[in-house]
Parts: sequence; structure tokens; C-alpha cells
Amino acid sequence: MPDQRNSAPSLGVCYYPEHWDEGRWPADLQRMRSLGIRYVRVAEFAWSRFEPEPERFDFSWLERFLDLAHQEGLAVVAGTPTACPPKWLIDSMPDMIALDEDGLPLGFGSRRHYCFSHEGYRLKCRQIVTRMAEAVGAHPAVYAWQIDNEFGCHDTALSYSPTARTRFRQWLRQRYRNIAALNHAWGNVFWSMEYRDFDEIELPNRTPAEPNPAHRLDFRRFSSDMIRQFQQVQLEVLRHLSPGRPITHNFMGGFTDFDHFEVARDLDFASWDVYPLGFLASVPFFPESDRKHFLRSGDPDYGALHHDLYRACGRGRWWIMEQQPGPVNWAPYNPAPLPGMVRLWTLEAFAHGAEVVSYFRWRQAPFAQEQYHAGLHLPDGQPDAACAEIAQLTKELSVFDGETPERGDVALLFDYEADWTIAIQPQTVEFTYLAEVVRFYRALRRRGLNVDIVPQGGDLTGYPLIVVPPLPIVRPEFVEAVRRSTGLVLFGPRLGSKTAHFSIPPNLPPGPVQEFLPLRVVRVDALPRFAPQAVHWNGERYEAEIWVEQVTGDLQPLARLEDGRGVLFRHGRFLYLAALPDARWLGDLVKMVATEQQLPLMDLPEGVRTRRFGALRFFFNYNPHPVKLAPFEGLEFLTGGTDLPAAGVLIGRRKGR
Ligand code: GAL
Repeated sequence: MPDQRNSAPSLGVCYYPEHWDEGRWPADLQRMRSLGIRYVRVAEFAWSRFEPEPERFDFSWLERFLDLAHQEGLAVVAGTPTACPPKWLIDSMPDMIALDEDGLPLGFGSRRHYCFSHEGYRLKCRQIVTRMAEAVGAHPAVYAWQIDNEFGCHDTALSYSPTARTRFRQWLRQRYRNIAALNHAWGNVFWSMEYRDFDEIELPNRTPAEPNPAHRLDFRRFSSDMIRQFQQVQLEVLRHLSPGRPITHNFMGGFTDFDHFEVARDLDFASWDVYPLGFLASVPFFPESDRKHFLRSGDPDYGALHHDLYRACGRGRWWIMEQQPGPVNWAPYNPAPLPGMVRLWTLEAFAHGAEVVSYFRWRQAPFAQEQYHAGLHLPDGQPDAACAEIAQLTKELSVFDGETPERGDVALLFDYEADWTIAIQPQTVEFTYLAEVVRFYRALRRRGLNVDIVPQGGDLTGYPLIVVPPLPIVRPEFVEAVRRSTGLVLFGPRLGSKTAHFSIPPNLPPGPVQEFLPLRVVRVDALPRFAPQAVHWNGERYEAEIWVEQVTGDLQPLARLEDGRGVLFRHGRFLYLAALPDARWLGDLVKMVATEQQLPLMDLPEGVRTRRFGALRFFFNYNPHPVKLAPFEGLEFLTGGTDLPAAGVLIGRRKGR
């Protein structure tokens, strides 16, 4: 989805007034303004200070803070504090606690203890948000709202509590109407799993062998719906009591436990929290060599993929609510970024259309859990390294003035249900949905293409190239969108391999997509990464990894395994990859299809990425060493040159503009 920003972007910061002596607030706010910061996010964890005891509310401190922020001309994003229910609340309502997959309750002494389905907790949230909005919802400093904080963080999207079980039964009753329909849809005759009534259904945990995959998939869908409903309670209050202020939620990176398209549908804009070095160190599928090479810069595509994803979730409007400003504390190891990286990450986000990049956090906390997490300032108040980079950035942001972004070159499909389906029955442990999306996204971005992420049912018309990573459950709206599209479509494996109820489709995979591709998948070879299969295509030898399908039909394969089996097929404008291609094969394939569609391809040095935004073109060097870019025509340099230092950024503008 193209984004809507057409004026210069702004900077923000996360600030916790309740962590600091009130006497420090004025100087902090003045300094924010002098640093060029425009937005301050506050209060998302402050429930125990808003309601220190049941029904005793105190928002006066926040009002004083807002008055000061307003005097400084700062705009505030007010966070609702519902990620941190205080101790007294939990003690008064112990069954609001979420239970983990082992059936154990989450303990107090941290955050996000609650179960999304709990009606009593939803009511308490409604009350605190109502009181907060009544107190500050009309304050001139309050520009926007953030609901809760990082839904599902710390593995809390799925709760196995008795409350969740009751709601799940209701949810199933609504969906299936009668128990025979559910038994049939789930295939419960298998292993005598048939139910006589919805009230017999348990949550899909603690079973001796794996639970029925259809049961698990419905539980995922249900849990996602619970998050959406939980958010709707607060949305309703805020829209009523603080009208005209846009509402967001801060989503996470690498997190697929609920359908973000659905949850974001109710919001005015999306936002997400960017921790590139934390992601690189903790996401399991990055190879060791990349972890080492990009240790201090982060994976060159992972953040960008999420920018494009959340631009789509926000229907063009999105922010970075938290940006890593230095080392963090929560990954397995936590290196410091290269000098210049905070600037690079910020410019990358703006080049993808972010309206605001807000740093987490203003000052490093000398107490509690996140003491090793850098801020823009040290605990003693002295500026930390990122401040100098921000000072530089504020002088550069005017390059965006008057630029309006264009539609991407490529539409890349993203689907949360695909992630759940593959996670429920991976068939080989190394197959994870996100890793495969990254595989396709990386191949496109390495060729310098601008990518738009599109959900199932999203509009595909006008895209010269459409790429569909593994998509097991194909919905009718997607088939319709493909029908209406005119571009070349590259489908990945596992396509249409399951029905909506987690069964093999009656006509075999790719199920409904056989309308475009006359072929059938009859077997899957699910392999360990250490056993790649040689592939021959266009006179070259490549490799297929992890997943190789056996396909029947009349189409002549374009690429074959050594034994002659086809792994790439074409029918008109539709291509089907019946295997996961290695990076070189996918890179060459992207080159072929993009050339056919006359897309603007680039050959970039390793570790360098580019992005167009209106008439601007950015080059980002994620390498820990300098690189020399090939000279190019038609670009006037605004910042930097073709000799890019480590963490360097070159900003150019199309000549003649
Ligand atoms: C985020 C969270 C913040 C803070 C930060 C540390 O996930 O929203 O509150 O904990 O991580 O990196």
C-alpha cells in the first residue's frame, strides 16, 4: 500500500514522567525541544500511579506534565496503562491472569499478566481509560493515543485460562452452530475426538500427542479475535471522550501471534517498535555469518520488511513508536550499534514512509529491569551517543519536503494465518513462515525494488509483479484479487495446500489456485537444511532447500532436479515454485521476472540497500566497512557521495525536478 505522508517527517521520544523527580521535567522538555523532538509518548505503564488504590484516581501529575509539554510546543501520545495491571487489581480478581501452555498462571512482578478474554479485566480497563480520557482527553497537548503496549509481548497472546476456555466455546458455537458441523470440519472421527456438545471442548494444550491442527488453528483465530475485542473496548471510550485524536497501538517485530491487519483495521494509524540489533541476535533463522557481519547494524532487510508490513496495516499511516538508540538489554547478547546507525535506521524508516520515529527512551533507567538499555541520555542526564546523530538528522529531514511516495514495484503477499498454519504443522522444523517471507523480500530488495505488502483480499491491480510466499490457506477474496490483477505472479510452494478447516483440499494443492495453474502437488519432500537438492535452470546449477514438491500435470517444467522432476512451472503470467530456492536462484529468478516487467533493477554491493521515495533515492550501507557505489546518471546528491562509510547513507534526488 502506498503511504500518504507528503511533508517532512518528525522525531519523537518515549518518556516516563513517573520515573523522575518532577523537578527534572521542565529541563527535560526544554532539551527535547532544542534537540528537534516534536512528539513525546508517555504513561503506558503508569497504572499504579493513576490508581494507587482501588477507585482512588490521580491524574493530576499527568496534567502538570501535559501543561509543561504544551508550553514547550511538544505533542503528546498518551498511552493507556492496561499492559500493567497493579498488584491490588490482580489480587482482587485472580482469575484475570493468563495461563501459559502448561496451564501455569503468569506471576506478578513484571508486566502483561492478563488474559485478553477476561470480562472483569476488560471492565477495569474501560474504567481506567474512561477516567484517564475524562482527565486529559481534551488537553491541548494530547495529540494521539496509544492503546496498551505491544499486545502479546512475552508470549501472552494465547492464554489457556478457564475464562479463555469459556469464551472459546462460545466463539466456536457461533462459528459452527451445531456440534456435528464442528466434528466434521475438524475431522474429529480421527482418534475418537468427537464431541457431543460445545461445552465438552477444551483448549488445545496439555494433550499427550499433538492436538488436532484444526482445533489449534481455530484457537489461534479465536485468540486473535480476543485481542481485537479487548482493544475495541478502549477504542470506543477514547473515540467518545477524546474525539479527533488519532489512536494507535505499538506492534512488534517478528511477531505473528495475532492478525495485525485485523487488529490495525480499527486504528487510525499503525506503529511498531524497532530493535534491529535485538532482532538479529534473537530471531532464530538468521545464519551465524550474518549475525557476525551485521552484529552492529542489524539485518539489512528485516526492519525494512516490517516497515512495509506496518505501512500496509496502517493503510498508509504509520510511525515508529520505539526505536533502538544504543544497546538494548533483552536479547541473548546486546552489542552497541555502529556510530551512525541510529541515523541510518531513522532515515530508512522515513524512506519507507514513517511519519514519526520515536526513540525508546529519553533517559536510561538506573533501576529495575532495563538498566542495561540505553536511552538518548545516560542515567545521570548526560547525552548518550545517539544525541549527536539526532542533531544531524534534524538538519536533514527537510529533504522530504514536498515528496510524495509512489506505489511499489512489487506486491508481496503477507498472511498471518499462513504463519499459524505452518507453525502448527511445519513438516520440517526448519520451515517457518517469517523466514520464508524474508527470503522472498530479501531477493526483491537486493535488486533495489520497492515492495508493498498486501494482505489476502488486498488490491493487486496495477502491480507489474506480484510475489506470493507460501500461502497454505487461500481465501476466495485472494483468488478474486488474482483474477483482477494483470501483473506477473510468482507463487511459492505450499500454496493452497490446506482448506480453511485445515484439511487437504479435495482437488489436492494448490486447491483453488488450480484455476490459474493446471498442476497438482502429490507429495512433499521435507528436508533438513543440510541436504539441499541440486536444481538446473537456464543452463545454471542452483539449489533447492528444505521443501521440494512433486508435481503432476501437463505443464513442462522450466527448472528440474537432477532426477528430472520439475520444480518451476509457468502457465501464462503465473509461475509456480515447487521448492524453496536458494538465494542465488531466487535472485536470478527475480531478475528474470522483473526484467520481463521492465522494473528498475539495480546491482547493489553486498550489504547495501536502496529505496525510492518520491524523487528521492536513498542508499544505506549496513556493512561494518566502507563501500564504493557504482556511479549513476540522473541523480543529484543531497547528502553523502558514492564512497559510503560504514553505516553511511547517500541521499539523492532525481535530476530535473
Ligand atoms: C519494548 C517495550 C518497551 C521496552 C523496550 C525495551 O518491547 O515496548 O516498554 O521494554 O521493549 O527494548
